[in-house]
Amino acid sequence: MSKLLVCLKKIGVLMGLTLAASLLAHAQGAPPSMEGKTAEQFYKSIKVLNGVPADQVIEAMHQIRAALGVNCEFCHEDPDRAADTKEAKETARMMMRMVMDINKNNFKGQQEVTCYTCHRGSTVPMTTVALPAVEKGVEPEPQGLPSVDQILTKYVQALGGEQALRKITSRVIIGTQYIPTGPGGTIPVPAAIERSQKAPNLVMNTYRTATYTVSDGFDGTRAWAQAATGRVTEPPATDQMRAKRDSDFYLPLDLKQVYTQMQLRGVANVNGHDAYVLGARPQGDSAERLYFDVQTGLLVRKWSSLPTPVGEAPFQVDYEDYRDTSSGVKFPYLITMNPANARTEPSTTATIRVTKVLDNAPLDSSKFAKPESKAAAAGQ
Ligand code: HEC
Ligand code: HEC
Repeated sequence: MSKLLVCLKKIGVLMGLTLAASLLAHAQGAPPSMEGKTAEQFYKSIKVLNGVPADQVIEAMHQIRAALGVNCEFCHEDPDRAADTKEAKETARMMMRMVMDINKNNFKGQQEVTCYTCHRGSTVPMTTVALPAVEKGVEPEPQGLPSVDQILTKYVQALGGEQALRKITSRVIIGTQYIPTGPGGTIPVPAAIERSQKAPNLVMNTYRTATYTVSDGFDGTRAWAQAATGRVTEPPATDQMRAKRDSDFYLPLDLKQVYTQMQLRGVANVNGHDAYVLGARPQGDSAERLYFDVQTGLLVRKWSSLPTPVGEAPFQVDYEDYRDTSSGVKFPYLITMNPANARTEPSTTATIRVTKVLDNAPLDSSKFAKPESKAAAAGQ
């Protein structure tokens, strides 16, 4: 079997839950007319972001908004985003061109400089040093630290060991996910979440709120999402690739196959505990960071990012409150996503409170088939 195929087959006992969150955005439905279009083909007043995929524009806007610490209306009319009435919008275009030129002329086109490099959450960048000029973060050139293999081995042991993990072939996770809605994602709405998983890589999630039900999953080949209307869509290529990785039922055992390059970057503080930071690059996708608790060995954070025309949009998932699922393996009962999903407003948060984990629950493979698109059948 080719290396790529192996990679595709090995796809999250743990991290899979991030899939649920990232697909939720799609479950609610990106307009089908956007698919395959560039920004200027889809939007009305594009002068700088020409050639950028249309589905990256809103993510870029979220990044710009957060980098400057403003709201959309700082540059835009509500609701007409195409109107060019505000001076700040024209300044932002000039800034976008400047940032593209800086990166093209100095960093071989890599997005090293972003709006955030200067703005740091303010419309007026600082011109003098802040005191104390010490930045907290990942310490470079770590000394006397364990190897990548030691960290990964300790993780598997902390979860209960390979044997115990392999004895489980299916799992149902029941809990509540708080989904931010309303202006700026400020109102958390509880959804009853049920996630079914079956080895090697089948996933099915349903989210039920008081007013609607959406679902998504991975059928062994493709990721799909069903909106409240019944319409079924497939997420874009990057999300497909990530869904494939996250669907691996034995992901904690397969990390070295999924991430072809892994490197210890240092030690960072995660929710009050020291954690080893592994830089982890999956085949054909941007690098992620995996944080393992120095004491317990457990995975406590996963950081990934999505490319946008103005720099990477970060997405961070924290895993806490690991408990024994009653079959000798551990699972995190509290999962927090910042932002609420990989494609939303940076200031939002979503939390999953797991209430029950049923290991080896009998699950028929047919449960994981991609559903028929109901709205399409009705001719919409
Ligand atoms: C700092 C200024 C700034 C902020 C804040 C900002 N935008 Fe934009 N936005 C722009 C600029 C500049 C363009 C045009 C880009 C171009 O010309 O290629 C644009 C274009 C758009 C477009 C395309 C409109 C069209 O039809 O041409 C949409 C939609 C949009 N923004 C949405 C948003 C949303 C939603 C937010 C808040 C999350 C936001 N923007 C925040 C500067 C901003
Ligand atoms: C190299 C540093 C740098 C980068 C990178 C940068 N800016 Fe700026 N930006 C500035 C400075 C400095 C000012 C303030 C200029 C002034 O006060 O006249 C500013 C001002 C602005 C303003 C006007 C704010 C106001 O109060 O009206 C907007 C809008 C803006 N920047 C958007 C952006 C966007 C969007 C990006 C990323 C595409 C970006 N900037 C990247 C340095 C930068």
